Amino acid sequence: MEQSLVLIKPDGVKHSNIGDIITRFERKGLKIEAIKMLWMDEELAREHYGEHAGKDFFPNLIDYITAGPIVALVIGGQEAIRVIRNMAGATDPIEARPGTIRGDLAADLEHGNVIHASDSPASAQKEIELFFTADEIFSY
Ligand code: TYD
Ligand code: MG
Repeated sequence: MEQSLVLIKPDGVKHSNIGDIITRFERKGLKIEAIKMLWMDEELAREHYGEHAGKDFFPNLIDYITAGPIVALVIGGQEAIRVIRNMAGATDPIEARPGTIRGDLAADLEHGNVIHASDSPASAQKEIELFFTADEIFSY
């Protein structure tokens, strides 16, 4: 079993999409192993998105992810990282296929793309440790 760190971003929370998104993961057979609502500060945002530091979109990305509360989840399952990235859809909502989270729930990058999902086992481990302590994560 694999774990992924998922964030429902400020636009997803603001537009009341928390339930829709979590329901998709549960219906797929993935397990919610940890969940919390928080408001990311700039330090956490810069750490989480460290791989993008220096890129032209980085300042806007930090402003966007810290603009409101988010929901952080650890989601587990077989090939969870790949399965969740497929469910999330393309980074740019304009390219994301209907049926994917971004395809269904987001209009364009300027207004946000609703969700973050880890892209590799290494980044999942790093990201999970950023948002959760071991005693906040449950396997069942
Ligand atoms: P990235 O890790 O490439 O995408 P993903 O979220 O699909 O793993 O980029 C992180 C976030 O940065 C992305 O969700 C939205 C934002 N972003 C932009 O605003 N413009 C861009 O050109 C890219 C590549 C990303
Ligand atoms: Mg990414």
